[in-house]
Amino acid sequence: MRIISIDSDAPDVSAIDEAAEILRRGELVAFPTETVYGLGANALDASAVARIFAAKGRPSYNPLIVHVPNEGAARELVSEWPERASRLARAFWPGPLTMVLRKQGIVPDIVTAGLDSVALRVPAHPVALALLRATDLPLAAPSANRSMALSPTSARHVARSLGDRVELILDAGPTAVGIESTVVDLRGSQPSILRPGLLGAREIEPVIGALAAPNEHAGDAARPAPGMLDRHYAPRAELRLFATEDASSMAREAAALAARGARVAMLAIEAGVTDGSTEVVRMPPDPARYAQRLYAALHDLDEAAYDVVFVERVPDGDAWAGVRDRLERASWPHSSS
Ligand code: TXA
Ligand code: MG
Repeated sequence: MRIISIDSDAPDVSAIDEAAEILRRGELVAFPTETVYGLGANALDASAVARIFAAKGRPSYNPLIVHVPNEGAARELVSEWPERASRLARAFWPGPLTMVLRKQGIVPDIVTAGLDSVALRVPAHPVALALLRATDLPLAAPSANRSMALSPTSARHVARSLGDRVELILDAGPTAVGIESTVVDLRGSQPSILRPGLLGAREIEPVIGALAAPNEHAGDAARPAPGMLDRHYAPRAELRLFATEDASSMAREAAALAARGARVAMLAIEAGVTDGSTEVVRMPPDPARYAQRLYAALHDLDEAAYDVVFVERVPDGDAWAGVRDRLERASWPHSSS
């Protein structure tokens, strides 16, 4: 595994060409997107895509997102391109929005876990776009981490999680959005959000009209057994969510755990503990800035070998939906609500 530093604003042509060459011969390259780092392979090459599943230890029933450089390239991979897709593309591409549409036969079944739909996104990162243009290929790219683990927001996170399972990592520094893209299902008469992200109903409904109410397990629609992926995006440490008003009982519990030798930390917007038993990481009160910091904070706590991380619940409401979803999955089953 090699790591090449690359400038986001002016990606070095020889680094991009080298990465493109690795991808063309069917191997894996991790690259930055604006959300998280992706583990890329040629989406039209089933054996290249099989390497992604092997490197991540990803179950074969969990389909991948295919990255394309523009709307035209997206349309070549689908059998239907509804008017709503054009509107969303115009409003949010390049950007942290993934659309699920009926697939065209050229997309291998392994990419879509045998589904007749494909998830598509145009990433808003100059390095990702340069790579898509240089390869002239659609790139299947899940987050560049071992299955179930925290997504990587830096090249160091990728290297730690995947090591020699990836040929090359393009390092353009920390990602801006910090949590994975919003996934919208555009099949059928009423679109719905399958996975919340930075863009929520508040941004999407003005563009395409009312969204169907999210159903409880839609986020992993492709899985065979509901409940299997409730735990996801998880650090090594045990995460426990608490409400701001329960901060004092939480602090007592944290102190008791620490007294028994556990390393205890807290991720908090407002709440605090004062007795020194607990490392307090202050999180921003704004959802976009919170999202940008979330995985990096959890990676840091894992690296420092914390055992338990108490996390103050974030506010209700659409703007926080993406962060709330990730915290619920990272803490399941300790804080199932
Ligand atoms: O921001 C992101 O989306 C990042 C960057 C690298 O683009 N990618 C990412 O990929 O998060 P991954 O594989 O970690 O998550 C893909 C999500 C999964 O929840 C998967 O079930 C869903 O997209 N998905 C993919 N294809 C689908 C399909 N055909 N129908 C329903 N859900 C699908
Ligand atoms: Mg992932």
